[in-house]
Amino acid sequence: MKRLISFIGAALLLVSSHAQKVSDRIESLLSSMSIEEKVGQMTQLTIDLVLKGQVYNPDNPATIDEEKLEKAILTYGVGSLLNTPSGLYITPEEWQGLIDAIQDKAAETRHQIPVLFGLDHVHGVSYIRNGTLFPQPLAMASTWNTSLVEEMSVVTAYESRAAGVPWSFSPAMDIGRNPVWPRLWESFGEDVLLNTEMGKAMVVGFQGDDMSDPYRIGACLKHFTGYGMPLSGKDRTPAWIPDRFLREYFLPQYQASIDAGALTIMVNSGEINGIPTHADKRLLTDILRGEMGFEGLVVSDWQDIHYLYDRHHVATSLKDAVRLAIEAGLDMSMTPTTYDFADLLVELVKEGTITEERIDLSVRRILHVKEKLGLFESTHKPFRDFPQFGDAQNKGLNLQAAKESIILTKNEDNILPISASSRLLVTGPTANTMRTLLGGWSTTWQGDQVDTHLSQYNTIAEAIVDKFGKANVTVMEEMENAPMLMSSARETDYIIYCLGETSYTEDQGNINDLGLPATELQNIQQLANTGKPIILIVTEGRPRIITEIEAISTAVLVGFYPGTYGGDAIASILIGETNPSGRMPITYPRYVNSLTPYDHKGTEDRVVDRSGNSFDPLYPFGYGLSYTTYAYNDMSTDKTTYEKDDNIHLKLTVSNEGEMAGMETVSVFVRDVKASITPPVRRLRAFRKINLAPGTTEEISFDIPVRDLAFVGLDNEWVVEAGQFIIMVGDLFTVIEVAD
Ligand code: BGC
Repeated sequence: MKRLISFIGAALLLVSSHAQKVSDRIESLLSSMSIEEKVGQMTQLTIDLVLKGQVYNPDNPATIDEEKLEKAILTYGVGSLLNTPSGLYITPEEWQGLIDAIQDKAAETRHQIPVLFGLDHVHGVSYIRNGTLFPQPLAMASTWNTSLVEEMSVVTAYESRAAGVPWSFSPAMDIGRNPVWPRLWESFGEDVLLNTEMGKAMVVGFQGDDMSDPYRIGACLKHFTGYGMPLSGKDRTPAWIPDRFLREYFLPQYQASIDAGALTIMVNSGEINGIPTHADKRLLTDILRGEMGFEGLVVSDWQDIHYLYDRHHVATSLKDAVRLAIEAGLDMSMTPTTYDFADLLVELVKEGTITEERIDLSVRRILHVKEKLGLFESTHKPFRDFPQFGDAQNKGLNLQAAKESIILTKNEDNILPISASSRLLVTGPTANTMRTLLGGWSTTWQGDQVDTHLSQYNTIAEAIVDKFGKANVTVMEEMENAPMLMSSARETDYIIYCLGETSYTEDQGNINDLGLPATELQNIQQLANTGKPIILIVTEGRPRIITEIEAISTAVLVGFYPGTYGGDAIASILIGETNPSGRMPITYPRYVNSLTPYDHKGTEDRVVDRSGNSFDPLYPFGYGLSYTTYAYNDMSTDKTTYEKDDNIHLKLTVSNEGEMAGMETVSVFVRDVKASITPPVRRLRAFRKINLAPGTTEEISFDIPVRDLAFVGLDNEWVVEAGQFIIMVGDLFTVIEVAD
């Protein structure tokens, strides 16, 4: 496992090792560009601004408007474009046609600098028709399989380039620390290490060793940083994050991906400790550049410079907002529907408020990205050179990912798997919609058209009918006809009840209550009164409270938007063709007001109602059942006392004691027994997913650097303190000592 953290000394080294080689081409371009041309490079517009029709009109035809294109490219020399609100969901050839037209126009400019085009490939190619849409990041985190994430990202890069798109606004790297947050599912969950390893795998899969490779793309880590812990749980609302916590929980995953070569970073739209991140010089320059050694391009989020003026109210005018963001360290403004950023920045440079050297710094970074992506060489290939676009192999990988992402959380009396001849009633609000499998960033921003756009794929109900046969399965809309539903329930062997969430993202996903409507419980209760076992299928983007519902269910499967094959994966698990191996990437709460993560302080666990403890989640972080049983034995370490530069060599055996082959995630948690800052009860320090045939035993070993046990101490620096540490794997534990 690669080292998770960097110490100051290492960070300084990084600054020099990351030094970019700026090519002669870039220097010569810079020396001959006007201020307007340089500022144009720093401007990013939505593609709507060069298309015919009205901006934000979902029926906007994907046809270039020559006049608008000339304004963007010839008059303003705009450096970058992106898609989203127009709702374009078009074929790779159509994307190539649009992007070629834009590049052809750029070739008419004095310097012929190609335009950088980006899309939000959050879980595969979101807006490219016939492309692959994998499980969402929270579901990918549920697989605990980093190789799968890397493979998925290789496919995404390939399919993106097939459409001529060299840049993706992903991975989202902020841990989700507030389960109410409507973008939790875009993250890899609540833990730093899981996010770090998943994010790094995605960056490596996207970028490979050479991003000018015609099948690789540039990554954009987002949203730097602290985005995943809004106090209110609503999107983009203020976060209060002490420096110590920020450094320990919100920087390491970025650092690891920066070290892995991540090309670009997008800024958090929110504010931390009262400072909107887009105006936070300390974070964007002193920490990101100075300490973390990031030398790539920093792009704003959507319209966020405007928001410094009219949402956060820290700028006195729009022009002041531009000044603040540029002084903070921003390189490119996702403006994206107006030209005022460009006009105002030119004014600021001409009047001397912002120096031309400052502008050069950003333009150099932007041109460097274009060079790295091979855009100057036009390595772009025609669509016929992408025969694997959306092919059977990609579909197979997607199905495998979906299967590994589903978590079996309850299986009373081993009721699952059920026999192929079982009679089933499938019902519930999410039984027959693709929206509950895909989530946002799926063919449209809100993922609200997938029932039409992806109708060739199976909903949960359709997949169950496919697997168990039409004759065995009754699918009924919930309460469409209550008496009929109840009589079907009485005649069936099992009731499959599907609930959760449909698709949303950003503000549109804000909620006031993590609970589900009371009617859900009533409906399930009525069905349960028939005495027939309820198999609950929960598909959602965040942990809605299901406590009472799960109590009357016999078995439960949970999926955090498992993608286009989510329905098939669920059906395959129900029938027993697939042994479930998903594990919780978050702590699943039992109560609306107890949202404590797994790595809380001991002091956070208090007695409640004079009986139980406050930390009592429905499902703990890392939890998940299987159709087989695993036994952990013989855990040992190579020493009992370690120096701070040592590695802890840990080994144990894992056996599959059941009758079915399975995949098990072996997770190593460590507790620092005494520390100068109250230590968390445990932190995940290593994990590995393994395959085990029935009746076999494997020896697993981990090398954990003692440095990985560090925390950010009293003086806000990383420190490993001497003393005892408890290492926990499954129900085994051992104690080691770190020497002074
Ligand atoms: C989102 C970003 C996204 C950008 C471009 C913003 O609203 O916050 O995550 O990359 O739009 O689509």
